[in-house]
Amino acid sequence: MSLPNHFDLVATDGAARTGRLTTPHGVVRTPVFMPVGTAGAMKGVHWREVRDAGADIVLGNTYHLMLRPGAERIAALGGLQVFTGWQGPMLTDSGGFQVMSLSELRKVSEAAVTFRSHIDGAKIELSPERSIEVQRLLGSDIAMQMDECVRLPAERDDIERAMQLSLRWAERSKRAFETAPPGYMLFGIAQGGDIPELRQASARGLVDIGFHGYAIGGLAVGEPQSVMLAMIEEVAPILPPDRPRYLMGVGTPDDLLEAVARGIDMFDCVMPTRNGRHGVAFTRFGQVNLRNARHADDPRPLDEESPWPSARNCSRAYLHHLVKSGETLGAMLLSEINIAYYQQLMHDIRSAVSEGRFADLREHIRAGWAKGDI
Ligand code: GUN
Repeated sequence: MSLPNHFDLVATDGAARTGRLTTPHGVVRTPVFMPVGTAGAMKGVHWREVRDAGADIVLGNTYHLMLRPGAERIAALGGLQVFTGWQGPMLTDSGGFQVMSLSELRKVSEAAVTFRSHIDGAKIELSPERSIEVQRLLGSDIAMQMDECVRLPAERDDIERAMQLSLRWAERSKRAFETAPPGYMLFGIAQGGDIPELRQASARGLVDIGFHGYAIGGLAVGEPQSVMLAMIEEVAPILPPDRPRYLMGVGTPDDLLEAVARGIDMFDCVMPTRNGRHGVAFTRFGQVNLRNARHADDPRPLDEESPWPSARNCSRAYLHHLVKSGETLGAMLLSEINIAYYQQLMHDIRSAVSEGRFADLREHIRAGWAKGDI
């Protein structure tokens, strides 16, 4: 059955699109990058800065929040927005992917995945129904179906089995979501690894079931960028053009640009904050490693033309000093600078798509990265 559509496609430019997704907690301008606040917090960055940087929506994780502090507790405290103080839209991932990457002794069966908590070793079962229940308790604006993602390279049989299981879990997730109030959304997730026919079958199966939006999962899991882009090209044409498309767990600024060029609307990734914590900044001139000794005496900021104050005002020498001394502020400044860079990139992409000059922008941005940081 077809679900109500909350996405307005505003303009297209080639395969690139720009639009507006209306959620219970506000409008999301697409293409959008969702910073990752895994456990109800952006690591090292205040919500105020996330908002000021231009983020319309952030991501949280079912897996982490159900283990600690617990979905029922968050519900009793008024839901994620009240609990965390982030007033805008939130998307939650379903947990399956995090079980795969974080927990030990996991076992996947038709019914559910069983695993040991990475926090205290407790044995936990997560079914598609429980995942939706948790996401409903959290009050997530956009819930994701539970899926099984296979790390690449993998055998065809394993990829196909996980893809088919994910389709059956998609149906169960949709049924479990039927009682959600109007306005809340559920996205299906296409799997199928690096095998074109399996990707197509997955996308067709999801479209038959019918979701508010469609995600492409199981990418950026060990394959080259060319394979990821080829898989997007297999899936995107099958998805309904009037629904949002979300590429999960991606990626570098270049990945975002290339995926938008192939019709993707939504992204999330830990890269801006994780790289920030490791002393790396994203800039118009590519990545800059502030640990490098060449910055020790450099009074210049990262980018004197950046609209973001810390990127424009803090000297590289100071950032280098903070990072080398292990000061918390170094990680904080670089994380906010990176989130702001990603948001600026998406802002520029949205403007270019709506004005029909996305190809020019793509070349211009790539030329800046190619020039490098000097
Ligand atoms: N995040 C990054 N990749 C995936 C995926 O394949 N599935 C889910 N649920 N989350 C992801």
